[in-house]
Amino acid sequence: MFVRRAYIPDSLTPEPPERDGWPFTVPCVAALVEHGLTFTHPVTFLVGDNGSGKSTLVEAIAEGFRLDPYGGRAGARTGRPNPRKSPLGAVLRLETTAAGARMLGGPRLKKKGFFLRAETAFAMTENLGGVPGYWAEDTSRMSHGEGFTTIFRTMMNAPGFYVMDEPESALSFTSCLHLTALMYELGRSGAQVICATHSPILAATPGADIIEIGEHGFRRTPWEKLELVDHWRRYLDNPRSYLRHLVDGGGDDG
Ligand SMILES: Nc1ncnc2c1ncn2[C@@H]1O[C@H](COP(=O)(O)OP(=O)(O)O)[C@@H](O)[C@H]1O
Ligand SMILES: [Mg+2]
Repeated sequence: MFVRRAYIPDSLTPEPPERDGWPFTVPCVAALVEHGLTFTHPVTFLVGDNGSGKSTLVEAIAEGFRLDPYGGRAGARTGRPNPRKSPLGAVLRLETTAAGARMLGGPRLKKKGFFLRAETAFAMTENLGGVPGYWAEDTSRMSHGEGFTTIFRTMMNAPGFYVMDEPESALSFTSCLHLTALMYELGRSGAQVICATHSPILAATPGADIIEIGEHGFRRTPWEKLELVDHWRRYLDNPRSYLRHLVDGGGDDG
């Protein structure tokens, strides 16, 4: 592991009126300001509804490890010039392990890490195929899912620090299973993964820690007890129990 805890030092804790505005009003960010967020397992998932603050958190964590918040790898020579920090990233600090401190303080080429965000990963498949330090394959000629899978395979092949935001977005069920296996292997091989997801498949990665975020802030929740899993179970069991509230005729076309 490389990062043990994310926190906001007292000296950087915002005061009102800044604290009364975004992002400090998002419940999970308020909880982070109050308690910090500890990482206890090599693989951690952040699970929660749209708007609960997952992207805000993972982006700031990626920035804290000096990964480009736009998405990209650690130690890149030609990142965007002076990427501007997010308001949370500007005050968030990471407590690193000895290995994390060594990696952050060490030479550029020794830095292993990657920030994958769904919004920009597609542009990466279009533009970075064949670029030195990325992947050799021409991902612009692949399907979204194939391109994403190529990124995962080539960029997450070492014990580094990997931050991902909804990496499942382009993936089929089977590709999600492969990504789950990759996450598991990474966790066992000395890497650390922090991943925001809506995928019950990814969240089931054996040995992973799951933090459910929402109005309550954050809480550690076993997979079986996740709201996400409960909704999927009930939906797959009986789609109409959900659709009758949303679709004319109760979703009953028979
Ligand atoms: N740049 C921004 N300025 C103001 N509010 C924002 C900004 N980015 C996100 N938000 C708000 O912060 C909340 C959390 O957003 P986000 O972290 O993207 O949630 P999630 O990734 O869990 O869907 C949402 O209510 C969203 O509208
Ligand atoms: Mg998001």
